[in-house]
Amino acid sequence: MWCRLASASRLRYTRGVMTRFTVNGQPVHYQLDPETPLLWALRDASNLTGTKYGCGAGLCGACTVHIDGVAVRSCQVTIASIEGSFVTTIEALSRDRSHPVQQAWVAQSVPQCGYCQSGMIMAAAALLAQKPNPTDDEIDSAITNICRCGTYPRVRKAIRQAARVASGAEDLAAAPPPGIDPADAAHAVPALTPVAPGKK
Ligand code: FES
Ligand code: FES
Repeated sequence: MWCRLASASRLRYTRGVMTRFTVNGQPVHYQLDPETPLLWALRDASNLTGTKYGCGAGLCGACTVHIDGVAVRSCQVTIASIEGSFVTTIEALSRDRSHPVQQAWVAQSVPQCGYCQSGMIMAAAALLAQKPNPTDDEIDSAITNICRCGTYPRVRKAIRQAARVASGAEDLAAAPPPGIDPADAAHAVPALTPVAPGKK
């Protein structure tokens, strides 16, 4: 298959170059330009649109995913640089919203417009995996994501509650199920597909 610039000029399909890693437990082989940012491979090739584009410059954190368990801004990472890694997106943090961060997020009604929230949640989950009981200062240093709606106080509160839930110090009812399987949700979004040479 020859290379082609996708209509949005973000994805370049390449001949004979394959980048392999694991996304949400599934092995993937991307036939894309190795310099493609992970964000666009996830969103445009894999239909995992829960990860958002905000600034494209590593500043806002809307595109945060986990790579080998660490919160990373996926707009700043090329797919070539993470060969063999394990990527987790918001769609696979849990399949039923049972992760303590998701439970606390619902309990605290954190989101307003929601745009930044998947990145916030992924950053919070990575923080709690490293520091099960973070102080407010540690939360503020670790969560540098930008929220235009100003949900920062509720983010802090939800992280503290998620820490209590994760440690067993507090019980919290499970958040309501999403009503659609995350995999089905991803499939419902049309994917860009490589096109043969000479065709538009
Ligand atoms: S879109 Fe990646 S940090 Fe803003
Ligand atoms: S909830 Fe609107 S940008 Fe954060």
